[in-house]
Amino acid sequence: MGTSMEVIRNRAALTQAIDALKGGKHRIGFVPTMGALHAGHLSLVASAREAADAVVASVFVNPTQFAPGEDFTRYPRDEAADAAMLEKAGADIAWFPSVADIYPEGAAVDIRAPESLAAVLCGAHRPGHFDGVATVVMRLFDCVRPDVAVFGEKDYQQLAIIRAVAAIHHPETTILGAPIIRAPDGLALSSRNAYLAPQERALAPEIHATLHQAAQRIPAEPGTVEHILEEAGKSLENKGFRVDYLELRHAGDLQLCPRWQPGTPARLFAAVWLENTRLIDNVRV
Ligand code: PAF
Repeated sequence: MGTSMEVIRNRAALTQAIDALKGGKHRIGFVPTMGALHAGHLSLVASAREAADAVVASVFVNPTQFAPGEDFTRYPRDEAADAAMLEKAGADIAWFPSVADIYPEGAAVDIRAPESLAAVLCGAHRPGHFDGVATVVMRLFDCVRPDVAVFGEKDYQQLAIIRAVAAIHHPETTILGAPIIRAPDGLALSSRNAYLAPQERALAPEIHATLHQAAQRIPAEPGTVEHILEEAGKSLENKGFRVDYLELRHAGDLQLCPRWQPGTPARLFAAVWLENTRLIDNVRV
């Protein structure tokens, strides 16, 4: 839209701003975030800009997607820096809702992520996480009423689940996936990279390097993929990572692919720990 960005903190003001955009027949592009923004988020704003007339970005660290003992309290928060980055990226509205705006009756989930997509990969290690994600994203959609919403492929499973849940609860909203943005050394950008100590940060690009190498081997060595994944996992563990999973799955329904089938879209997914930091990544095979 091109005027300066509006920062909105309460829900009534957001509703008014959205009504005005809808009244002006502006297509709304939406980028939900948890803040601690980096170039990956800014690429989502750029995609939303291309797909819509006005871009709304939200910054909300959603309590219902963190299990007890996870990093909800230490999750990085810097509203001033986030607002400045969103303005520079060309967002029209930055919305910083309160917990009461999103969960007026108390923080609880009321939307279940589909079992077949949510019970695997990160869902198997973070029970309830995707119900929290599905619930908050649908509540944010209720408020923003977007025509288009953009999510990064770094959280590929999240994207698949949001597509499925939005098709039921917000079929009018088109869900767009945006490619992973990486540091020059290959590490996928993530707000959680901020947790890494310098020696961990130096090691972290091995995740992508290992996935990339395995993804090259898979089509080159027809047959089952078990031995390739096992070697990749061992190589990461030898370097000091703890591997939650390293799996080849169908890019659409996330079902396991015990062998690679030419013509079938597949992705290689990994979640690993470096000391107290859990990092995820995925590559197309
Ligand atoms: O990907 C994220 O940052 C969050 O999971 C999301 C989609 C903003 C929901 O809280």
